[in-house]
Amino acid sequence: MKVLVTGGTGLVGNALKSIKKDYSNNYEFIFLSSRDCDLTDLQKTKLYFQNEKPDYVIHLAACVGGLFKNMNYKVDMLEKNLLINYNVLKCSHEMKIKKVVSCLSTCIFPDKTTYPINESMLHDGPPHTSNDAYAYAKRMLEIHSKAYQEQYGDNFVCVIPTNIYGPYDNYSLEDGHVIPALIHRCYLNKHNNEKFMVRGTGKPLRQFIYSEDLARLMMWILEKYEDKESIILSVGEKDEVSISDVARNIAKAYDYEHMIEFDSSYSDGQFRKTADNNKLMNLYGDYKFISIENGIKRSVKWFIENYEKCRK
Ligand SMILES: NC(=O)c1ccc[n+]([C@@H]2O[C@H](COP(=O)([O-])OP(=O)(O)OC[C@H]3O[C@@H](n4cnc5c(N)ncnc54)[C@H](OP(=O)(O)O)[C@@H]3O)[C@@H](O)[C@H]2O)c1
Repeated sequence: MKVLVTGGTGLVGNALKSIKKDYSNNYEFIFLSSRDCDLTDLQKTKLYFQNEKPDYVIHLAACVGGLFKNMNYKVDMLEKNLLINYNVLKCSHEMKIKKVVSCLSTCIFPDKTTYPINESMLHDGPPHTSNDAYAYAKRMLEIHSKAYQEQYGDNFVCVIPTNIYGPYDNYSLEDGHVIPALIHRCYLNKHNNEKFMVRGTGKPLRQFIYSEDLARLMMWILEKYEDKESIILSVGEKDEVSISDVARNIAKAYDYEHMIEFDSSYSDGQFRKTADNNKLMNLYGDYKFISIENGIKRSVKWFIENYEKCRK
C-alpha cells in the first residue's frame, strides 16, 4: 500500500520519515515537497497523483507561519491554504484514495470560548484576528472533508494537533514557535556568554506534542480510526507545562540553567488554552507521550548537530 505524505519535508513529515521503518511491512511511503509538486496548482497536483497512484494520503502540506506571517500575509495564508487543500481533496476523490488524514490545528478554534476546548467547538465563533486567514482556510478543510464524506462516502478525516515541536522545525528567532525560537536563542546566548532572556513571566501554560508522537498517532488514525469526526491529538491537561518549565528544560539541555532570566516587561499572552484529549484517550487508551524534558533534549541535540543547514 502506498502512502503519500504531503508536506513531507516539514516538521511532521520528517517525523513520519523517522518512524516509517516501523510500518515498512505494510506501506511504502512517498514524501512530497513543493519541489516535487506545487500543490497550489491543480493540473500539477492531478498529474502527480496520476503518476504516483497512492492508496492513502496523509495531508500535512500547508503555508504555516508565526504571528508576523499570519498578520502580514493574510492573502497568502488564505489563498495558498485554500488552494492546497482544495486540490489535495479533489485529486484524492478522483483517484479514489482509500483514506485521507488531514491536519488542522488547535490554534484555529474560536478566540472567545470556554476551556478546555473539544472537537465539537471548532466552528462556534470567529478565530483570533491575528491568524483568521489561516484559521478559516483550515476550518474549510474540515468542512470540505465532511462534504466529501456525506456526498460521496469518502473516508476523509481531520486531526487537530496542539503545538508541535521537534527536529526539522522552523528555528527562526522571529517567526518560529516558542520552543524552536527559544532553542535557537539559548544556543546564541550560550555562544556569546550572555544571559538567556525569556520574554514574559514564564507562567502561561501550554500543551506541546513531540513530532514523533504525532507521527505515530497519525499512523494509528490511518490504520485504526473509524470515526468520521475530527479528533484532537494532544497530551492531556495534566501534562500542560509552563513556558518557564519549557525554558528551564531548554537551558538544562545546554547546561546553561544558571543564566536564565525572565523579562516580565513583555506581555504573557493568554494564560492557558487547554485542549481536551479525552476522545483520544478513550479510543487509544494507553498512549505514552515522550516527556517534555526528553523531547526538548532530543530537539536541542538535533539543532546543535544541524545548526548550519536547518531552517532558522
Ligand atoms: N507546527 C505546529 O506547531 C503545528 C501545530 C498544529 C498543526 N500544524 C499543522 O501540521 C501540518 C504540518 O505542519 P509542519 O509544522 O510540519 O509544517 P512545516 O514544517 O512548515 O512544513 C510545511 C510543508 O508543506 C509543504 N508545502 C508548503 N507549500 C506547499 C506547496 N505549495 N506545494 C507542496 N508542498 C507545500 C512544505 O514543502 P517545502 O519544504 O518544499 O516548502 C513542507 O513540507 C500543517 O498542516 C500545519 O498546519 C502545525
